[in-house]
Amino acid sequence: MRYVPLDTPKPISKIGLGTWQFGSKEWGYGPEYERRAAEIVRRALDLGVTLFDTAELYGFGRSERILGEALGEDRAKVVVATKIFPLLPVAPVVQQRAVASAARLGVDGIDLYQVHQANPVVADTTTMRGMRSLQDVGLVGEVGVSNYGLRRWRFAEAALGRRVLSNQVRYSMIDRGPEEDLIPYAEQAGRIVIAYSPLAQGFLSGRYDATNPPAGAVRRANPYFLPENLERGAALIATLREVADAHDATPSQIALAYVLRHPNVVAIPGASGVEQMERNAAAAEIDLADDEYAALVAAAHAFRPVTGLAAVPRMVRARLGR
Ligand SMILES: NC(=O)c1ccc[n+]([C@@H]2O[C@H](COP(=O)([O-])OP(=O)(O)OC[C@H]3O[C@@H](n4cnc5c(N)ncnc54)[C@H](OP(=O)(O)O)[C@@H]3O)[C@@H](O)[C@H]2O)c1
Repeated sequence: MRYVPLDTPKPISKIGLGTWQFGSKEWGYGPEYERRAAEIVRRALDLGVTLFDTAELYGFGRSERILGEALGEDRAKVVVATKIFPLLPVAPVVQQRAVASAARLGVDGIDLYQVHQANPVVADTTTMRGMRSLQDVGLVGEVGVSNYGLRRWRFAEAALGRRVLSNQVRYSMIDRGPEEDLIPYAEQAGRIVIAYSPLAQGFLSGRYDATNPPAGAVRRANPYFLPENLERGAALIATLREVADAHDATPSQIALAYVLRHPNVVAIPGASGVEQMERNAAAAEIDLADDEYAALVAAAHAFRPVTGLAAVPRMVRARLGR
């Protein structure tokens, strides 16, 4: 395993574990998955993973409980990251919700407490006042944000009066927005970009095609899995496979290596099984050659999925099986 080259109280592994899948019916993994989830966590610990990401929203607290229980006594050794869903993120609410999350996780302190997304009405001034008091009493270690643009991230830092260590955003080969400003800022200021959906929810694994789309409500709502987009993605997957073959690796591992190339980026892929966790952890060791990286960039640029409003009628048709 590799770790972020930053001064943090505990080392942060380049590959973390995302746990939205835990206790969340919408991934469609069924009741058996709960036991597997615990095995995934234990294996991740064995492999040197130190970053575990959850949220109060995932399974309405279930993910936090499953994660906390699976970590057991190892909770104190790793970076436990959770998120407040900012319905009304004023200072007293932030404080009360942190206490509830810590209780579900079974921890004395939340190593990284993140605001799940920017609230359009409540300013970060009051949210960060809550965060600061949580840091002052030791219930929260580092503060993070999620789905923030650069301006608002910096505003949150000014409001906190301390570093907001990380911004967790969608970042993968096919969602490259963070390369424009968030990643350069993280590199210059000693912050971290936490890449969520780094495999584009499994699209980049190459396991799925138009005749074999994934199950579950989450991915039915993701336009990348429209039959048309799966077809359009074939050339990109072929390039991933080509690079993967040269490394005796899989397309998913190469997709992870692509985002991890930036020193201040960590990725938190979810996993449906232990073997995926093992492969994802191993991806932290892959170094892409410049020409391989260039080929991946070119293939990613050439992929033009149908997204946004244009995707809506197609999603409805796919839902109706037409
Ligand atoms: N802050 C936010 O707003 C936000 C939003 C979304 C996610 N997140 C966080 O980010 C984490 C990851 O994002 P995500 O779950 O949306 O997407 P992801 O990590 O890109 O995709 C996860 C899925 O990809 C497949 N997969 C994982 N490893 C694989 C491998 N080695 N080979 C082949 N397939 C593999 C698995 O599905 P199958 O095996 O079923 O194909 C798995 O459930 C979440 O768990 C959550 O913690 C945060």
